[in-house]
Amino acid sequence: MNKFFISFIFIVIFSLLNVEAAVYKGQKEFVKKCAPCHREGQEFVAQKTISEWKKIMRNSGEELIRIHLISKDEKAKDSYIYFKSKAFEKKSVHLIQFLAEYAKDSGKVPACN
Ligand code: HEC
Repeated sequence: MNKFFISFIFIVIFSLLNVEAAVYKGQKEFVKKCAPCHREGQEFVAQKTISEWKKIMRNSGEELIRIHLISKDEKAKDSYIYFKSKAFEKKSVHLIQFLAEYAKDSGKVPACN
């Protein structure tokens, strides 16, 4: 029982740290890659709900890429290279954690830095 309990605590702490790390990595990626075009940053993330962001980011951001591809805004074209890159495919799992963490219905407000 005791051993079980200790392992349980370990697993809880470990998964919490893991989510924290993913959110942090996602935030870094957002600031680096998305924020230059979406300057309102935090407000921008809070425009959508958790489930909306999850839908947009499904399949390595398939819908996100589509949104940018069909956009008539000239500026969106500059994002194709990034979205097609391996880096984006890899970071999309962290991005989703970050976007969900600060979504409209998450009840959280990111620190301003
Ligand atoms: C090179 C510029 C650029 C980059 C990089 C970029 N975007 Fe965009 N994004 C745009 C433009 C331009 C639009 C289209 C706005 C429109 O058509 O109304 C857009 C549209 C969107 C939309 C749809 C907006 C809405 O109101 O539904 C979302 C969501 C979005 N971007 C998220 C992201 C995320 C997340 C990233 C980073 C992973 C990112 N974008 C990277 C330029 C960019």
